[in-house]
Amino acid sequence: YGSGEQDIAPAWWRGERTRLLQLAAERSPRYVYHLPTVQARIDGLKHLQAVDHVHYAIKANNHARILQAVAASGFGLECVSPGELAAAKAAAPDAPRLFTPNFARRDDYAAALDDGATVTLDALHPMEHWGELFTGRSIMLRVDLGRGLGHHEKVRTGGSGSKFGLPLDQLDRFLELARTHDVRVQGLHAHLGSGILDAGHWGEVYAQLAALAERIGSIEILNIGGGLGVPSHPGEQPLDLNALDRVLSEVKAAYPQYRLWMEPGRYLVAESGVLLARVTQDKRKGGHHYLGIDAGMHNLIRPALYEAWHEIVNLSRLDQPAIALYQVVGPICETGDVLGNDRRLPVSAEGDVMLVAQAGAYGAVMASNYNLRETADEIVIE
Ligand code: LLP
Repeated sequence: YGSGEQDIAPAWWRGERTRLLQLAAERSPRYVYHLPTVQARIDGLKHLQAVDHVHYAIKANNHARILQAVAASGFGLECVSPGELAAAKAAAPDAPRLFTPNFARRDDYAAALDDGATVTLDALHPMEHWGELFTGRSIMLRVDLGRGLGHHEKVRTGGSGSKFGLPLDQLDRFLELARTHDVRVQGLHAHLGSGILDAGHWGEVYAQLAALAERIGSIEILNIGGGLGVPSHPGEQPLDLNALDRVLSEVKAAYPQYRLWMEPGRYLVAESGVLLARVTQDKRKGGHHYLGIDAGMHNLIRPALYEAWHEIVNLSRLDQPAIALYQVVGPICETGDVLGNDRRLPVSAEGDVMLVAQAGAYGAVMASNYNLRETADEIVIE
């Protein structure tokens, strides 16, 4: 299950060109997800000996078919809102649900507890003001380990500049309140950010949480978060799952008494998804050559929000030489509505089908109706 093969294997969509061209001819923009690729990533994570339980972070992609596939493999579903809990329950009623929200309403926690989800708290406020809600329950506690990591500043979720997690200097107070309200802290959680490719990271998190757990006593579970990255730029090395398993096994051998949980989102779905769009117009202006397509930041906001790089190809002309240099833009009335800057592509024409790769995670789920543009629909290839 080494990530070596996934590195060398051509992206799935190269083998599905005819079908994708047909799908885009019917309608665009359109997301297409390739279930065998999701399954391959599930299988990779299932092989991790050191991991006791995986919850898929459904915020990355909540398509029912994907939730079903993930649940059928024995994974739970990690949710951050009542809407996500409902989607998880509708698609896979029997999959364990983990509720890990941030600054949620009192009612959201109450509903999650009624729903039977495992609830994660990450502040004093719920314990100070709504302690009775949790009386007699077991909860997870998300802590801030004081640092963040990830592909962009906006997705780093640790350290003094981030709103996530209980700062460690408030831990004693939290535990005291938990005792007062007869709440059992059964697990510790940390998630430092998203898009991490260094396998060593999760070993450090486990070791830090284990050291804290020794102090607390009631801890059975250490949830070391998600954040498992996929290579985004050409030449970037994929996360080495073998190395991850080694690192986790070593640190677990030092603290074997805890169950190890992870909650990846992106890793399971990013590479399974593409966004198909059609060329609308071509324009030369100010030394730039703009290629307009009918998908924009309302469909895929990652380039605009994080300057994320997504491979873009002209699916109609895959075999033609990439001799033009384009700014690939959408139809939205903002200068930031760019899918890709300075892309080498074949000379492209109105109606050509463009494919934006690695759009299976944080694509459709972050879409909006901005400018009253339609959202892309979602198709699953089984
Ligand atoms: N657990 C928690 C507590 C999280 O906040 C997140 C993601 C995950 C797990 C899953 O992280 P993943 O394995 O997918 O990296 N929209 C951004 C990513 C935001 C991630 C938010 N939290 C992007 O498109 O890069």
